[in-house]
Amino acid sequence: MENLTYQINDKEHSVSIKESPVFQHGKDEILSSKETDITYTQDWYSEGFTEVDFLNEEEFKSLQEGLSTSISKIISKDLAIDTEGFSLESYHKFVKTDTDHFKIVSKTRDLFATDFNFPITKLYKRLSELVGFELTDINTQTNDKVHIIVRINRPGSNDFNPPHKDIYEGVDKKSIIFKFLNFWIPIAGVTNKSALPLAPESHRLNENEIVRTFDGGTMQGNKYRVRTIKSWARESKLMRSAVKYGQVLMFSGHLIHGLAVNEETDKTRVALEFRLFKKEK
Ligand SMILES: [Fe+2]
Repeated sequence: MENLTYQINDKEHSVSIKESPVFQHGKDEILSSKETDITYTQDWYSEGFTEVDFLNEEEFKSLQEGLSTSISKIISKDLAIDTEGFSLESYHKFVKTDTDHFKIVSKTRDLFATDFNFPITKLYKRLSELVGFELTDINTQTNDKVHIIVRINRPGSNDFNPPHKDIYEGVDKKSIIFKFLNFWIPIAGVTNKSALPLAPESHRLNENEIVRTFDGGTMQGNKYRVRTIKSWARESKLMRSAVKYGQVLMFSGHLIHGLAVNEETDKTRVALEFRLFKKEK
């Protein structure tokens, strides 16, 4: 087996899993519960995700412009490319090779709240209000501070990771289920051909219905730390989030998501991605 086929909004996508670790069913257990999933008390728990209004027009514009300026500065400084006329959606017209793109991504992959020309920590407060409990960027189970990822996905590229659950690494390596919520904020080029694909309700499935790798994953020749999920309840269907600019997509760390193929032909997609933990009293 060298290829896997998934459906995103009913369209088939075939990807190479050459040299992937082996795929196996999980144990007879359901990992998401009142004790292990901090989204359990949310009114959207049964679906596993929600899209909610979050920034007004002015705030969104300021966030988008701030990011555009930061990325354009990295491009001109690190690649010595003239960024006259740069916009996030046209990123692929400035950064044209994989080598150059990976140089930029190595800088934008791990940002902390303090790296933004924008009050990200204020946003954490607002997100806490949305979920009704206090959120923190410190992993309360390890004391590590979490990163904010600026995901840049060029049109028609392999800049996506396999369908996965964020909790699996902790489960497989440390037998710990980290308690966090995932946030995904659309910044540019986010459409129904590029938004993040999700598998609604997949967080509530028994692990014996999930076929996946248990030690990283390989897709389209790229190696990932996340485990590749091949199928769930004998299906491999994902649907793209309908999240709009100014909204935030929130989802359980137990929900299957990924394979964010950018099917736009001339738009780079940019989104902010991060996790937040429930602050223990
Ligand atoms: Fe993820």
